[in-house]
Amino acid sequence: MSAEVHVVHHPLVQHKLTLMREQERSIKSFRELVNEVGMLLCYEITRDLPLEMVEIETPLQTMQAPKIAGKKLIFAPILRAGVGFLDGMLALVPSARVAHIGIYRDPETLQAVEYYFKAPQDLPERTTILMDPMLATGNSACAAASLLKSRGARDLRFVCLLAAPEGIAQLQAEHPDIPIWTAAVDEKLNDHGYIVPGLGDAGDRMFGTK
Ligand code: URA
Repeated sequence: MSAEVHVVHHPLVQHKLTLMREQERSIKSFRELVNEVGMLLCYEITRDLPLEMVEIETPLQTMQAPKIAGKKLIFAPILRAGVGFLDGMLALVPSARVAHIGIYRDPETLQAVEYYFKAPQDLPERTTILMDPMLATGNSACAAASLLKSRGARDLRFVCLLAAPEGIAQLQAEHPDIPIWTAAVDEKLNDHGYIVPGLGDAGDRMFGTK
């Protein structure tokens, strides 16, 4: 059985995603929204992290208070659009480690091509959150997850802004252990591998490359 797909229905997430889909939205505004939605999705994806009680001193007395247990998270953005997603996540978890994964989609074959990988050495001991704004064919997400696993990652989660049913099916087929968080599941992929209705090319809209 596959791990769960969590669609984050929070009104703030839904509202901001609608703004992002709008064709006329400026790069500046799109980028700010990616950050904000990144933060909100980060809040959801970390909801079940285990806590441990530690002793602290308040100005008044000693108390037992909860802190997140275990090693710091790893955020693993898939270059390049995943990087735009990273800032919002880091705003909430500033001490997270970061693994950069360079993968691009061959425009002809839509297959994932790896060109860069740099991750913390102790991947096996940390929860890793793989991130890419768009889960389209699923090829990049699957390739990135395989790379992380080949370096020892065991506890993986995937987060995106928008998912296509095809991408979810592919990721679940190849990596049934990885739960997915997304703000929405759209209708389908078009012939060019874009999510429709979608929001266009997330990287171009974030970085102004079109
Ligand atoms: N990548 C994007 O940026 N947009 C899509 O719709 C699909 C893949």
